Amino acid sequence: MADSPLRRQERKIVMNTYKVTLLRGDGIGPEIVAEAVKVLDAAGKKYGFAVEYTDALMGGCAIDATGVPLPQETIDKCLAADAVLLGAVGGWKWDTLPGNLRPEAGLLGIRGALGLFANLRPAKIYGPLKGACPLRPDIIGDSMDIMVVRELTGGIYFGKRGRETVDGVEAAYDTEYYTTKEVERIARIAFESARKRNKKVHNIDKANVLESSRLWRETVLRVAKDYPDVELQHLYVDNAAMQLVRNPKQFDVMLCSNIFGDILSDEASQVAGSIGMLASASLGEGKRGLYEPIHGSAPDIAGQGIANPLATILSVAMMLRYSLDEMDAADAIEKAVEKVLDDGLRTPDIYTEGCRKIGTVEMGDAVVAALA
Ligand code: IPM
Ligand code: MG
Repeated sequence: MADSPLRRQERKIVMNTYKVTLLRGDGIGPEIVAEAVKVLDAAGKKYGFAVEYTDALMGGCAIDATGVPLPQETIDKCLAADAVLLGAVGGWKWDTLPGNLRPEAGLLGIRGALGLFANLRPAKIYGPLKGACPLRPDIIGDSMDIMVVRELTGGIYFGKRGRETVDGVEAAYDTEYYTTKEVERIARIAFESARKRNKKVHNIDKANVLESSRLWRETVLRVAKDYPDVELQHLYVDNAAMQLVRNPKQFDVMLCSNIFGDILSDEASQVAGSIGMLASASLGEGKRGLYEPIHGSAPDIAGQGIANPLATILSVAMMLRYSLDEMDAADAIEKAVEKVLDDGLRTPDIYTEGCRKIGTVEMGDAVVAALA
């Protein structure tokens, strides 16, 4: 069906165009981002929107090109975007650099610079991947579907730190520090997302020991008064780590500080089967968000064409849902991912006998095909 020039022009006027900044990063980052971009473009074609991409450097690639992990130009390009898609950063090559010059400092820096205080990390088991879950089937039951809500710009990651020498002995410290304002806003995100799910929040802290956790818990209790329809329970973080493998089905939303969320989301991802499947969204006050798979740059398999692009593709679905308001396209991408899994297509990390082993590009193509 050929469009008339007028029709084409009309469509151009009504079609939304979104600006997405790509931080392809290091290791497998560029490979998986390429597949996610392919899927995003295919979704745009189907649902009538266009995406304009801008590339920017962050992490090891930025260090190599500019000497720092997060150049100002990258911050500016992210601030100018509707959303940011990140692959992964880091690698052996940069492991011996001082902390403030490591690739990871770029990631913390961009979270801070964009004010992305809320990190949403859904950990769910996809039906066809049940076999990849390391827990017994009777523990998992029909499903597991957890949303880890992690505070992302405060706590020990951003608190006062330093080194000193005391009586000739070297020492170092990092400080867990939270204001009620910081706790309140992340607690609200947790309660709001529980409202759209199964209406349960588990607040995770260490209030039996830490003063910062006591303030955290008091604040969560105060916020909870605005959400009487959401059930709230408190768990100490050590118990939460145990409960995640003892009975993961009990969880809906887990509300965590920066460091507790970092640790528990890795644990939850493993319970879900493969870290190669889990997406994440980092959000601030406005609509702009940063989207990334929760796995790392996997330098050991970089360049081999075998990395699993599904977590990055699912991150694009989160971007469509939270930043771009393209809900139908978001749903369609998630369904397309389920379809390729149903069809038995697997990258090596999620491969089990009887399935078909494919590479990164083939997996991206399969999702595009399933979308159509
Ligand atoms: C994550 C990562 C990062 C973090 C590192 C790479 C700085 O582990 O996103 O979970 O600790 O936040
Ligand atoms: Mg982590």
